[in-house]
Amino acid sequence: MNLDLFDGLPDVEMREEPLGPGAMVLRGSARLEETALVSAIEDVARAAPFRHMITPGGFRMSVAMTNCGPLGWVSDKTGYRYAAIDPVSGLPWPMMPESFLKLAVGAAANAGFPGYTPDACLINRYEPGAKLSLHQDRDEQDYGKPIVSVSLGLPAVFLFGGLKRSDKLVRVQLVHGDVVVWGGPARLRYHGVQPLKEGHHPLIGGYRINLTFRKAG
Ligand code: SIN
Ligand code: FE2
Repeated sequence: MNLDLFDGLPDVEMREEPLGPGAMVLRGSARLEETALVSAIEDVARAAPFRHMITPGGFRMSVAMTNCGPLGWVSDKTGYRYAAIDPVSGLPWPMMPESFLKLAVGAAANAGFPGYTPDACLINRYEPGAKLSLHQDRDEQDYGKPIVSVSLGLPAVFLFGGLKRSDKLVRVQLVHGDVVVWGGPARLRYHGVQPLKEGHHPLIGGYRINLTFRKAG
């Protein structure tokens, strides 16, 4: 007998996995809100389509990106920065959906960072082969607030290092619904994503989508 039928809720397991001081994985935290999140992502992408940005070095990023919220992260030949206007549409980025904000604020609080006020959400879309090289998130004005990173769709290997590029990396398998939070002493830890493997996810199809929340301004 499937007991899940009785409470009408999907079988969602949630678990906290520490990744050192100030950092943890909240397994499955985004699962209960998955349908609201997916339709909100579709709304954002209609107004501000996914695009492959160019790095300051002139390379096309393999991850397609868009943003929502007051500020959006952008990259072009002149550098990385946060901008209030989407350079593709010429309009402000779409508003941050209520479901996004609720998830990010709740996850930050559960990880020990109450009172989170993100003003930027970068939406990363990985197709098979897409990756993100090791980097620090350091384009924000102040490092006092954590990063909240939500994984949806295909699984990926998240590389989590230390404060120096050469520090040892831990490999963390992230699956649909997992949320990673890093702040405080972990705020500037290096991180990246290994090339995505082919696959099919029932809700997202052949992609991984990552929502990265930040207090940028
Ligand atoms: C990022 O560092 O912006 C994204 C990390 C991820 O996709 O998990
Ligand atoms: Fe990052």
